[in-house]
Amino acid sequence: MSKLRGRYMEQKYGGYSYLHLGEKVDAEKFLIAKFYIESSLPLEKAAEAVAAESSVGTWTKLTTIDEQSLAQKAARVIDIDKRNNLVTIAYPNILWERGSVAQLMSGISGNIFGLKELRALKLLDVRFNREYVRGYIGPAFGIEGIRAILNVYDRPLLGTIIKPKLGLDPLQHAKVAYQAWLGGVDIVKDDENLTSMDFNNFYRRIRLTLELKRKAELETGERKIYLPNVTAKPEEMLRRAQFVRQEGGRAVMVDILTAGLSQVSQLRDYDLGVVLHGHRAMHAALTRDPKWGVSMMFIAKLARLAGIDELHIGTVIGKMEGGRDEVLSMHRFLRSPWFGLKTTMHVASGGLHPGHVEALLEILGDTDVIINMGGGIHGHPQGTYVGARAARQAIDLVLSGNHLAKVLETKQPQELYQALKTWGVVDKNGRVITEGVVKSSTYRHVLVQE
Ligand code: 3PG
Ligand code: 3PG
Ligand code: MG
Repeated sequence: MSKLRGRYMEQKYGGYSYLHLGEKVDAEKFLIAKFYIESSLPLEKAAEAVAAESSVGTWTKLTTIDEQSLAQKAARVIDIDKRNNLVTIAYPNILWERGSVAQLMSGISGNIFGLKELRALKLLDVRFNREYVRGYIGPAFGIEGIRAILNVYDRPLLGTIIKPKLGLDPLQHAKVAYQAWLGGVDIVKDDENLTSMDFNNFYRRIRLTLELKRKAELETGERKIYLPNVTAKPEEMLRRAQFVRQEGGRAVMVDILTAGLSQVSQLRDYDLGVVLHGHRAMHAALTRDPKWGVSMMFIAKLARLAGIDELHIGTVIGKMEGGRDEVLSMHRFLRSPWFGLKTTMHVASGGLHPGHVEALLEILGDTDVIINMGGGIHGHPQGTYVGARAARQAIDLVLSGNHLAKVLETKQPQELYQALKTWGVVDKNGRVITEGVVKSSTYRHVLVQE
């Protein structure tokens, strides 16, 4: 450390120490955050810099706050694990505005990421407490509420994303959705970048798709959900969500990070009686680097606070990055009690096809999941309807205790056999047990068939 830098650090803390190593704080009175930190400074100094900047401090001693008030409100570094570069910081409840995800993010995951002294900084997790959590109303439906709408209690839900993600007009979109519902899909959703374009106007798409949803419900005797993506500027987002409700829809989807979690929270407060589906597009820009950014668990916790009923948290074995431990810990958190807030349902999405179903359910160990397949349904060689049937068959077969690999021998049921022959069967370590003619990792554009 240079002399100059040393002087700068001296000034920065002006005698006040954020270090409270070994202190046992009351978990009901503090939010407790765990960070991974690497720095050119000794870890204690870096930890103090993080604690200061994320709570009350700045780079110099201040005359505007007295010692007593500072001591009451400053964050406290309560543990440093030098071997693993882990730092635990406790933030007094008094620092936080109740019900403001934005304020929390600006503090606990804000300016600190710009501090020059830090080479690595990752917010790994935050332990919230009753007082803080009760400042939010949380999800309106939760897993139970979603299951009640669909009247499906004993199996994973099957979802699809209309593909291609962009390019269809409203009528084409509605027709593909209809085929998917007829084939056995429970939930059809828009893709994250499908909003309201010249070639696919939101209002027209929603009207036509909901109309065909009702038709599919009558014909199958099953209840269905359509998730229109209402992501837009605040007023327009509300207008779109209200329109969905007015047209008889029961659910909407929001791109929670690109639109913003405060917008999600606002939508929840309107209490429109719609399920809120959270798509996490762009999360990997913040979460993917193991040594930089915030964890997906942190985002999952914020999403549940903000009122998201169902959230994309990963597949372990699909096309998106996200390890087994990480996905499983979020899966468990989202379905566990949390100071009276309803649960949030795990959406497993990204690169899944019927050949993943057995492994996915084995990894999760329960059926509280929405298994979403876009390409894995619409890319079926015989089209969407047969693709949807194959996906439902995969779920039914696995739940009745059978193995997917067996289908490749018996060639029955035929729809599922075709799917497995196309994409293969994958085990819980992501290894291909049986190759398909199309490698699932090959990125290709598949046209939706009529
Ligand atoms: C900011 O919000 O940009 C910082 O709080 C800057 O504060 P400083 O001038 O005390 O570093
Ligand atoms: C999603 O929004 O989750 C993806 O569009 C999934 O699509 P895929 O199943 O084709 O990967
Ligand atoms: Mg998508």
